[in-house]
Amino acid sequence: MKTAVVYASKHGTTGFVAQKIRNLLPDDEVVMFNLDRRERIDLRPFGRIIIGSPLYSGTSLPVVRKFIEQNLLDLLQKEVGIFVCCMFHDKADSQIIKGFPELLRNHARSIRNMGGEYRFEEMNCIERLVVKKISGATGSVSEINARNIELFVRELTVDASQPCFTEPNSFVKL
Ligand SMILES: Cc1cc2nc3c(=O)[nH]c(=O)nc-3n(C[C@H](O)[C@H](O)[C@H](O)COP(=O)(O)O)c2cc1C
Repeated sequence: MKTAVVYASKHGTTGFVAQKIRNLLPDDEVVMFNLDRRERIDLRPFGRIIIGSPLYSGTSLPVVRKFIEQNLLDLLQKEVGIFVCCMFHDKADSQIIKGFPELLRNHARSIRNMGGEYRFEEMNCIERLVVKKISGATGSVSEINARNIELFVRELTVDASQPCFTEPNSFVKL
C-alpha cells in the first residue's frame, strides 16, 4: 500500500526512527515527508499515513499538531499509525493523549512509543542544562526500542481481517 511517513524532529531521533520504519516496509511504496521542511503534502495518493513526533513539554510538536488539525478529515479516511519518540516513558500515555486528538487515536491501527535519545551534540546549552536537570544525564543517551518499531510495522501491515496476534498495545510500552 502506498505509504506516507510524515514526521518532525528537533534533534534527529524521530527522523532516524522514521527511516527504520521505512526500511521495514520493503514491499510498499513509501514516501518520507519531513514537516520541518514546511513542504505542502498531498495525501491523496496514499492509503496509509504514518505520523511521527518527538515529545517535548509533555506533548507532540506544534508542527505535527497543525498537520493533524489541517488534515484530520482526510486522515480519518486512511489507515493511520502514530509513533512518538520520548524519554519520560512512564508518562508516554498521558503525553500521547495530550499530543494527538482522540478521534485520530481511536482511528489509528497502532500507536507506539519507540523510546528516544538525548543527543547532546545536537542540543544548545540551554537544552543540555534542562536535560541535565530533568534526567541527570550529562552525555548522550540512546533508548530506542527496536522491538516496538517492529511491532508497529507488523500491526500496520497485518491483514485487518485477522485477529490481533501481537503483544497488547500500551503506548507506554518500551
Ligand atoms: C529540552 C528537552 C525537553 C524534553 N522534554 C520531554 C518531555 O516533556 N517528555 C518526554 O517524554 N521527553 C522529553 N524529552 C526527550 C525527547 O522527547 C527525546 O530526546 C526525543 O528522542 C527527541 O526526539 P528528536 O531528536 O526527534 O527531537 C525532552 C528532550 C529535551 C532535549
